[in-house]
Amino acid sequence: MRVLVIGSGAREHALLLALRRDPEVEELAVAPGNAGTAIIADQYDVDITSGEAVVQLAQRIGSDLVVVGPEVPLVLGVADAVRSAGIACFGPTKDAARIEGSKSYAKDVMAAAGVRTATSEIVDNPANLDAALDRFGPAVGDPSWVVKDDGLAAGKGVVVTADRDAARAHAASLLDSGHPVLLESFLDGPEVSLFCVVDGETVVPLLPAQDFKRVGDGDTGPNTGGMGAYAPLPWLPGGVVTAIVDDIVKPVAAELVQRGNGFSGLLYAGLALTSRGPAVVEFNCRFGDPETQAVLALLETPLGQLLYAAATGKLAEQPRLVWRGGASVTVVLAAENYPGRPRVGDVITGSEADGVLHAGTTRRDDGAIVSSGGRVLSVVGTADDLSAARDAAYALMKSIRLPGSHFRGDIGLAAAQGRVSV
Ligand code: GLY
Repeated sequence: MRVLVIGSGAREHALLLALRRDPEVEELAVAPGNAGTAIIADQYDVDITSGEAVVQLAQRIGSDLVVVGPEVPLVLGVADAVRSAGIACFGPTKDAARIEGSKSYAKDVMAAAGVRTATSEIVDNPANLDAALDRFGPAVGDPSWVVKDDGLAAGKGVVVTADRDAARAHAASLLDSGHPVLLESFLDGPEVSLFCVVDGETVVPLLPAQDFKRVGDGDTGPNTGGMGAYAPLPWLPGGVVTAIVDDIVKPVAAELVQRGNGFSGLLYAGLALTSRGPAVVEFNCRFGDPETQAVLALLETPLGQLLYAAATGKLAEQPRLVWRGGASVTVVLAAENYPGRPRVGDVITGSEADGVLHAGTTRRDDGAIVSSGGRVLSVVGTADDLSAARDAAYALMKSIRLPGSHFRGDIGLAAAQGRVSV
């Protein structure tokens, strides 16, 4: 099988490494990729937001399967174009991808499917903002306001704050730039990312993971695209994954089918385990980053065959997934000033070791690998337990140098110390 992966993050690097372990995958290509993926796949520089450009590339190199990593091409309909050209594609249609592309659409689907989520209100007129803010936050007993961009924002459109002025300023700046705002009630409890391979109403969950979205240790500072993750979750009570699949993911998949927008690809349920049970924080229409780096490190089932089965309507015929035991931890190395405008162009050393997954990296003409984005790379450690996996990931991080860079030191720490509970 010849597989083309679309994207350029550490998530795509992790997908390529897992695909390479599948004996049925003979050729790997990536577009546009980065300095790390160039070592394991043929790399092509095409506009991945253009369905036509992706189809032309897939046809030219004879791809049997296209795997679309990021949400932007999915929301723009790249998977539709690939399927229309008769090529198997792992990734939902433009209409199904609205589950991530429009938070108000996702809320509507969840309401129809009877799925628990935060209560919410869309504000699209600045004149209504103050009254709407009064219906959320500390005034109604919530610890914080939750203010989101209704559309795509790479994880950075969310502000969770107990400071009304900060909540108002974020909402006003979104409205000023023409983006409707979603105000939500606050969901407390530990968060879980559950990735499910979905084909219509068939749902196959992967290992649950936990993501760390704030930039600083102890969940401080602004939100990012994700600074680290670990899998599985030793504190998660037995039966919770099955309950999430049965009570949340399957009803949502069925509702999408009923609307004629059946989902085929990776449906990512971001959940909070509240005192009243799991509730949805968000759905995404693709593998999450950085959780994918941790989850796929433990997958033994051949990934190419799994994704091809989902893409061709045969997911229900797949054998049960096989996982290696133990735990996996991934830690993101971010450039100076990320999640603000990152400093780029700095030389990185130590990034060619096993277990280092590249994101914002590029190779200069002189051969040096330099930073080219905010989240520069992820390190992955796997071991028999979470503490040892953390040690492995942080030992690898120590061997990498990038001026001005930063990473969180507490990824998976509370869970390893038994301090997470539901
Ligand atoms: N881990 C957050 C995301 O992928 O959106």
